[in-house]
Amino acid sequence: MTGSTLLAMAAPSTRTAADRLREVWAAGDYQRVGVRLLPASEQLVVDLAVRPGDRLLDVGAGTGNTALAAARRDADVVCSDLVPELLELAGRRAELEGLQVATEVADACALPFPDASFDVVVSTFGVVFAADAELAARELLRVLRPGGRLGLTAWRPEAPGGRLLELVARHAPQEAPGEPLRWGTPEGVTGLLGRDEVTAVRFTERTVDLTAPSVAAQWQRYRDWFGPVHVAWERLDQAGRTRLETEFTDLWARCTRGGGGGIVVPNTYLQVTAVRAG
Ligand SMILES: C[S@@+](CC[C@H](N)C(=O)[O-])C[C@H]1O[C@@H](n2cnc3c(N)ncnc32)[C@H](O)[C@@H]1O
Repeated sequence: MTGSTLLAMAAPSTRTAADRLREVWAAGDYQRVGVRLLPASEQLVVDLAVRPGDRLLDVGAGTGNTALAAARRDADVVCSDLVPELLELAGRRAELEGLQVATEVADACALPFPDASFDVVVSTFGVVFAADAELAARELLRVLRPGGRLGLTAWRPEAPGGRLLELVARHAPQEAPGEPLRWGTPEGVTGLLGRDEVTAVRFTERTVDLTAPSVAAQWQRYRDWFGPVHVAWERLDQAGRTRLETEFTDLWARCTRGGGGGIVVPNTYLQVTAVRAG
């Protein structure tokens, strides 16, 4: 047996949660789905009163929606994510807009930054996927200076976004190591951040409309572009694929607002803003 065969055989058992997450989010074409969440990013930087010169870290930044929103307000931005390919797109978007954004590959569970090195730490629908939610919450607070502002968004469990994550986790549990729904309730977030670590905590429910020309078109978009659905679909046999598609299309058809063409699905998320105590 050659050395490379031995390595290949060892690979499945040594695949860490971070490796699985990296594969899931590198799959598909996240930018095409993620760009539709821009309103949540713009809203968050306004509510955090991001201002010129703020040293701001975006965790699980993907292709940079929130990092770019902060850079448009002249913050000094570090855009971080597990997936280098997504950061490369974030860099290209920044360049096209003539904005300054530094990118850094980073796992939310082990942020490669010193204690108290940022004035603002944000994560829109990103840190929620970290394999160890408690460790990731400690990391967000560790790199934030006392008095610094924290801003997070997560799908409400009962919203289409939350239900979709539950659906994917049910169909491909081995590819969904985190606890994203825990970040979508005030109780969950309070438990993760700790009552004494933050002050001025504000929970706001907000909604972003997700549209598509039809339910079938939305299924195709998510199957082809959205990593978690794409990977679940690839792992399933034909019967499993049919069940996933049926449950997905039922969910979006049930949640659309009536009237007019296409689908308009209001998707509710929890926005959290807080200040680090101390
Ligand atoms: C739904 S996307 C959100 C991206 C972006 N924040 C936005 O608002 O469009 C989730 C992102 O979290 C990243 N991610 C997942 N697990 C992570 C981890 N442990 N550490 C850092 N990033 C992670 C994924 O690579 C992906 O870019």
